[in-house]
Amino acid sequence: MDEPILSVDDIHTYYGMSYVLKGVSLQVGHGQTVALLGRNGAGKTTTLRSIIGLVVPRKGHVYYQGEEITGIKPHLIARRGITYVPETRDIFSYLSVRENLEIAYRPTSRWSITDVFHLFPALEPLQDRAGRFLSGGEQQMLAIARALLTGANLILLDEPSQGLAPLIVREVLRILRDLKREGISILLVEQKLDLATRLADSLYIIDQGHIVFEGTPQSLSENEEILHTHLGVGGRR
Ligand SMILES: Nc1ncnc2c1ncn2[C@@H]1O[C@H](COP(=O)(O)OP(=O)(O)O)[C@@H](O)[C@H]1O
Ligand SMILES: [Mg+2]
Repeated sequence: MDEPILSVDDIHTYYGMSYVLKGVSLQVGHGQTVALLGRNGAGKTTTLRSIIGLVVPRKGHVYYQGEEITGIKPHLIARRGITYVPETRDIFSYLSVRENLEIAYRPTSRWSITDVFHLFPALEPLQDRAGRFLSGGEQQMLAIARALLTGANLILLDEPSQGLAPLIVREVLRILRDLKREGISILLVEQKLDLATRLADSLYIIDQGHIVFEGTPQSLSENEEILHTHLGVGGRR
C-alpha cells in the first residue's frame, strides 16, 4: 500500500487512571473505507477521540498524510483535513439546516452548499428547518454534509447508523458509498456488522483496548471464531 492517509501506531490512551487503549494500531489508505468494530466499551470512540486530539495518547503516534499529529489541538487537526462526526452528531439545534452548512463551510472544500444538496437530496427541502426539528436520520445526513463542507479528506464517523430506522440506514449506506466514490477516506466505527462489511475495504476489531482482528470483510465473514468471541455474533452458541 502507498503511504496511508492515516496511520495509528501503537497508541496507549488513558482517562485518568483508567487504561483504555492498550496499543492500538491501524491504517486507512487514501480513498479507503475502513471499519472499526467492537462491542460497547471496547474503545472505539476513544480511538477516534485519540486521532482527532480530544484525548492525547500517553504513548504511541498518530500520523496524517505522513506527518505526526499526536498531541496537536483538535481544531488544528481539523484544519489539516480530518473531521470527526461524533455519535451525538452535534448539530446546532437553533440554526437552520442551511445555517448549519454555512457555518461549516471552508473555501478549501471541493463542495459548495449546492453540491451537498445534490449529494443529500433529502436535505434540500429542509433548508429552513431548525436542527432541533430534524429526525435522527436527517441529523446524521446533515452531520456528514457538514463534514464535507469543512474540506475534510478523512472523515471519522462514530456509529452513523445508531438509532436509525432500517430504511434510513440504507440511505446512510448510499451516502457513504457516494463519499467513497468522491475519493473521501473514511474511518467508520460501527456495531452493525452487515453495514461495516458492505462498506469497508478492510476491517479491524477492537476488544478491551486491543486490536484482535485485521482483515478483509471476506476473511472476517469466514472467521466464525473471531465473530463469536469478539463481537458475540453468529457461530457456535
Ligand atoms: N470520559 C471518560 N472517562 C472515563 N472513562 C471513560 C470515558 N469515556 C469512556 N470511558 C471508558 O473507556 C472504555 C472505552 O470506551 P469507549 O471508547 O467509549 O468505547 P466504545 O466506543 O467502543 O463503546 C469504557 O470502559 C468506558 O467506560
Ligand atoms: Mg462509542
